[in-house]
Amino acid sequence: MSEHLGKLYALGVGPGDPDLLTLRAHRILREVPVLAYPKKMRSGDSYALSIVEGLLPEPGPERLGLVFPMTRDPEKLQRQWEETAAQVWERLSAGRDVAFITEGHPYLYSTAIHLVRLLRQLHPGVEVEIVPGVSSPGGAAARLDIALADGDETVGLIPAVADRDAMRRVLASHDTTVFLKVAKVMDMMIDLLEEMGLTDRAAVVTKCGAPDEEIFRDVRSLRGRDLEYLTLMIVQKGGRR
Ligand SMILES: C[S@@+](CC[C@H](N)C(=O)[O-])C[C@H]1O[C@@H](n2cnc3c(N)ncnc32)[C@H](O)[C@@H]1O
Repeated sequence: MSEHLGKLYALGVGPGDPDLLTLRAHRILREVPVLAYPKKMRSGDSYALSIVEGLLPEPGPERLGLVFPMTRDPEKLQRQWEETAAQVWERLSAGRDVAFITEGHPYLYSTAIHLVRLLRQLHPGVEVEIVPGVSSPGGAAARLDIALADGDETVGLIPAVADRDAMRRVLASHDTTVFLKVAKVMDMMIDLLEEMGLTDRAAVVTKCGAPDEEIFRDVRSLRGRDLEYLTLMIVQKGGRR
């Protein structure tokens, strides 16, 4: 272990367009010796890495792909998380700074939250900096030209995997609601919107800001469709639409 510990950056890279990176994120990415990124188990693909790849210096930082399992099995989860934390700690304890990149904002439904928490638990002296990024709700609101809140309006934010009653309550009690993780439950979402008379008030964005971004203003057309994981829905009750 080096005398000097490296610093962990939980760094948001925005929703998809490299232009939406902050100047701070850009500077850190050009200086950091280790770039850790979340990758898919099978393909090894990483959306977050694809956003920043063109901005990295040559030969660039060590790339450390971290697999986050999509399982609910607590033992498997714990084992994988411990392994991930150990890989990051190995670099930090050797005095090397690590930037862990996540799409959007690192403190919004992100693996960065758990990684930071776990490292702080295991190694209380670890230094961490959270580098904010443009969140997908922020990016999507801009692309859809929907003002998320004006005056005294309120905004709800909820992952669509939550139970249907919870989603109904959030919709009922806010002027605007942003649903994340809608891809797998789109049909149920459309049923819920129809029941509440809000189908015409919804819009959907897939891979906001990426070259293959898609925008859907008629959500009925999405029934039965296979959608990308990176899909969100904004429902606005009033306002101009
Ligand atoms: C685990 S959350 C990550 C949120 C992210 N930390 C943020 O700040 O936007 C993943 C969900 O965020 C939404 N999401 C993230 N990036 C997106 C994008 N570029 N376009 C559309 N939705 C996106 C999708 O609903 C996706 O299922």
